[in-house]
Amino acid sequence: MSVEEAREPSDAPGAPEGAGAPSRAGEQPGGAVVGIELRGRPCTVASGRSVLAAALDEDPESAPPVICGMGSCYACVVTRNGHEQVRSCITQVQEGDSYDW
Ligand code: FES
Repeated sequence: MSVEEAREPSDAPGAPEGAGAPSRAGEQPGGAVVGIELRGRPCTVASGRSVLAAALDEDPESAPPVICGMGSCYACVVTRNGHEQVRSCITQVQEGDSYDW
């Protein structure tokens, strides 16, 4: 299979922007989403995404720092619901939670 054959129809050159594409990175049409807050901003994220992935999807410029991406370095620690410290790269988003850093 060539690269052209492997592309999704919405990736095809000339396809209308957003045609068949997920509404946000990580979300799939018809997939479960959860509502969270990132730095006070409400957003929806595909269920099962990490907090770090959600933050990178929302605004890569202000996302927590990443070094290892697998829970070893603690560079990506964020505050969940105002008090609990979690590693955003290995913590899945949970409905209604609020994250700040
Ligand atoms: S990036 Fe290292 S623990 Fe998350």
